[in-house]
Amino acid sequence: MSIRRALPEESVTLTQISHDAKRHWGYPEHWIQHWQADLSVSSDFISNNQVYVAENDGVLIGFYALVVRDNKAELEHLWVAPDHIGTGVGKELFIHAMQIAAGENVSEVEISADPNAEGFYQRMGASRIGEVTSEIDGQARRVPRLAIDPSSS
Ligand SMILES: CC(C)(COP(=O)(O)OP(=O)(O)OC[C@H]1O[C@@H](n2cnc3c(N)ncnc32)[C@H](O)[C@@H]1OP(=O)(O)O)[C@@H](O)C(=O)NCCC(=O)NCCS
Repeated sequence: MSIRRALPEESVTLTQISHDAKRHWGYPEHWIQHWQADLSVSSDFISNNQVYVAENDGVLIGFYALVVRDNKAELEHLWVAPDHIGTGVGKELFIHAMQIAAGENVSEVEISADPNAEGFYQRMGASRIGEVTSEIDGQARRVPRLAIDPSSS
């Protein structure tokens, strides 16, 4: 497996990976559609941010997106294709993202995590700093907010 910068023309493939990975948790399909904008990656977004893909024999199997603002960054995407979940791809992408963040002199990377992925981020060294609340099906949905100093990971 290798990690390299994403190409703008890979936006459709990356958007497919994020949708497939989110479905891994068994959410109803109308929730996936509700989150469509958040799960989508445009060519412009790839051109303007730190977006890296994991590639295996020419096939994209995961990616992350780091949005750097001054000395902080948001890990806006981290998705592993379902066939490769649990095989170490997420860990390698996360470590790579922290190296990129540290190289940009970022002091803190923040993440709004899927609740099912919080244990992964904590395993990677991130700590919970709060929650983000949204609404779906007329009910409040709270997701964990985490942070990590990239130079500590
Ligand atoms: C969450 C995700 C990125 C993790 O990537 P992964 O390749 O499956 O994880 P890895 O195999 O690299 O696991 C690294 C370590 O984290 C642990 N881990 C992985 N997923 C975990 C989870 N959901 N909860 C708790 N621990 C987890 C592993 O056991 C492993 O621990 P070890 O180092 O002691 O062996 C991936 O499972 C995924 O894309 N899931 C579906 C979509 C999603 O929710 N993405 C995150 C959006 S915020």
